[in-house]
Amino acid sequence: MEERVLNPKLTEEEAALDQTLRPQRLAEYIGQNKIKENLSIFIDAAKKRKEALDHVLLYGGPGLGKTTLAHIIAREMGVGIKATSGPAIERAGDLAAILTNLQEGDVLFIDEIHRLNKIIEEVLYPAMEDYALDIVIGKGPSARTLRLDLPRFTLIGATTKMSLLSSPLRDRFGNILRLNFYDQDDIKKIVERSARILDMSVDAESAVEVAKRSRRTPRVANRLLKRVRDFSQVRGDGTLTLDITRKALHLLEVDEFGLDEIDRRILEAIIQKFQGGPVGLSTLAAATAEEIATIEDIYEPFLMQIGFLHRTPRGRVATELAYEHLGFSVPDSLQNKLL
Ligand code: ADE
Repeated sequence: MEERVLNPKLTEEEAALDQTLRPQRLAEYIGQNKIKENLSIFIDAAKKRKEALDHVLLYGGPGLGKTTLAHIIAREMGVGIKATSGPAIERAGDLAAILTNLQEGDVLFIDEIHRLNKIIEEVLYPAMEDYALDIVIGKGPSARTLRLDLPRFTLIGATTKMSLLSSPLRDRFGNILRLNFYDQDDIKKIVERSARILDMSVDAESAVEVAKRSRRTPRVANRLLKRVRDFSQVRGDGTLTLDITRKALHLLEVDEFGLDEIDRRILEAIIQKFQGGPVGLSTLAAATAEEIATIEDIYEPFLMQIGFLHRTPRGRVATELAYEHLGFSVPDSLQNKLL
């Protein structure tokens, strides 16, 4: 797969460094204020009652902090955490092994929970509801079910695709929290915090510049910061100034809105090949040589967020802002038109 500096998905080699930048406590976590407030009340109440926290579903795009929040919740509760993911649990026995190894109060974090298969999902229902594991022994008429008690635990599920989660599973979460794109000012604070941890000197203007181009996503901000640092160490004296930051970002082909070459290719295709749209997703994917899922999960959410693209029942449409940003003249049909 092509490496893309703006891809909000975590790459393997990044995981270790990411660990040092991740906030450990709720008080260190920047942004998502509503979620933080909800969680802190919810955590304090559970601690006062000396109960396990109710199950939590975290929902939001890649790189917005779902995994970080899961670890913070466990730490704030003072319990252990076991992390896995939907596709990693292949058999019901895998899940049974994980569940029976949990300690009282522990967090079980399942990333990409929408990718859990149906049979395994059904093992999860009694576990979530009654802290019990139903094991079928034998086959045919003599088969019996044995109920095994589990420790009281908290399931934290994370998903980028709420619509793919079955409703029985969704209904078993006591708390559903949705992570949004971050405010630019919060991203700036995250850049400054990461710079402190990485022992870099960054002036306020450079932090704003990195923040502006980070697609309102902390993981992208941290990645850009590291790439800009590389550039400044090779081409400058290691200090981040506005000039160095801009040059580095220019070299990375990340523009002032945080769009890269692929975003531009998508918008240009809609404008030039399909007269601004509407164009269906699969046609657009073919025209840009990108995968449907990549366009849908990675590019589109941000392009819609900044008002460059609209999804309509008949397909994708480029907006007046997109025309202007890419230097095309805005067709009369779009001017003053509310899409
Ligand atoms: N690093 C990544 N996400 C962060 C956040 N929300 N707050 C502080 N540091 C972060």
